[in-house]
Amino acid sequence: MLNTLQRAQLLRTQNFIAGEWQDALSSSLAPALLDVTDPATLQTIARVADSGAGDARAAVDAAHAAFPAWRDRSGRERAQLLKRWHALILENRDDLALIISSEQGKPLAEARGEVLYGASYVEWFAEEATRTHGDIIPEPVRGKKLMAVKEPVGVVAAITPWNFPLAMIARKIAPALAAGCTVVAKPAEDTPLTAAALVMLAQEAGFPAGTLNLVCASREHTPEVVDVWLADSRVRKITFTGSTPVGKHLARESAGTLKKLSLELGGNAPFIVFEDADLDAAVEGLMVSKFRNGGQTCVCPNRVFVHTAVHDRFVDKLATRVAALHVGPASDERSQIGPMINERAVDKIDRHVRDAVARGARVATGGRRLSSPDVSGAGHYYAPTVLVDAHTSMALAQEETFGPVVPVFRFSSEDEAVRLANDTPFGLASYFYTRDASRIWRVADQLEAGIVGINEGALAAEAAPFGGVKESGYGREGSRDGLEDYMHVKYLCQGGLR
Ligand code: SIN
Repeated sequence: MLNTLQRAQLLRTQNFIAGEWQDALSSSLAPALLDVTDPATLQTIARVADSGAGDARAAVDAAHAAFPAWRDRSGRERAQLLKRWHALILENRDDLALIISSEQGKPLAEARGEVLYGASYVEWFAEEATRTHGDIIPEPVRGKKLMAVKEPVGVVAAITPWNFPLAMIARKIAPALAAGCTVVAKPAEDTPLTAAALVMLAQEAGFPAGTLNLVCASREHTPEVVDVWLADSRVRKITFTGSTPVGKHLARESAGTLKKLSLELGGNAPFIVFEDADLDAAVEGLMVSKFRNGGQTCVCPNRVFVHTAVHDRFVDKLATRVAALHVGPASDERSQIGPMINERAVDKIDRHVRDAVARGARVATGGRRLSSPDVSGAGHYYAPTVLVDAHTSMALAQEETFGPVVPVFRFSSEDEAVRLANDTPFGLASYFYTRDASRIWRVADQLEAGIVGINEGALAAEAAPFGGVKESGYGREGSRDGLEDYMHVKYLCQGGLR
């Protein structure tokens, strides 16, 4: 697919440090190139800089040197550059979508949607850059003026996942730059090409050298890069989207220099269908939320609780819709579900399904790996699956499956549904469907989650605060709160006024 790019120069394979595209310095852990694979064909599509500690340090040096001048620009000046970047992202939308699909595997229509989704954060934070208001505080004693101003925290390290290679890095970099921070970013090892293309567009937009730096690294070399950033006291914030164990590691290891953290970690989202729900709307909402990106989304429902009075009707409708999903490579316009990111991902999905079946679940549809002739190409595919008679002892009730599998559990009272939904260390997204207005507020209040979908499956928006509670992390992305996370408050007290 990449040979159909309109602008071949968007395909960058080097690091971007101090305004220069450069190869990785020779690492203590050679070799210095990382293969990027198309998960639909398993072909290598590019070889990218595989960086080590030296590159990580050089990126911080550049970001640190660029910080004072960037911080001192007005919000409006920063906003103008972000708006130019936003326009360039939209202009290059088709090429960016091709790059996303080639390295991540999602269908092209979804990749185009991701470009718009990511761009919406850049536009939103361009607008917010001019609104970093502080407070004038009424003085408790005469003769003093008390003020609180917002300041950028400094150099930010952004560590991003593979599932939304454009949107996740955009929604970290854009608020950081808007707030006046400079950035060192490391994209996921599976999907560095989209990040590099996005950074090239930022370069074209005219961000000053050193404000935005990109360091790519393989899975093996990532700890070397991240350890440098964790230890360096010039890095004042880490923003990370990924697994809870890695988030905990970052929290522990950044304690030495007490960095600010935003951690968007794993979820185990419940999706509750009450007996009074509009079942067609609930099935539709579940299809939208569960099968986005083939189920590889932190906010995908992982456990579906259906009231026993509507269970069978709901499952029939759902299984019919799921069985009709078209699975295939991004290059096939009919594809609704692409390949999973890698073999490990399919192994986990398959382990969860086998475990569930061994513990008494029934497969209503799917339940197996897919390969030729069911699907074209050599990629890592799993059939969209509905499992019924799921229960809490199964692995898929405890861990995020991150794939196209819907386990359906039964419940018979509101209290039971809420208890089951909250019975997890995680608390990112949750969903429920009901037509009872008082139940809406009761249940929304009780769900332990940072995000609650009420009769709605599509929740994410640049204007809304995205983030979790419990072991799903802390900090928010998008919305006013998403900018606050890149600033600290400085209190000014002026005396001698009487
Ligand atoms: C994620 O999977 O981490 C993000 C999903 C979203 O932005 O909706």
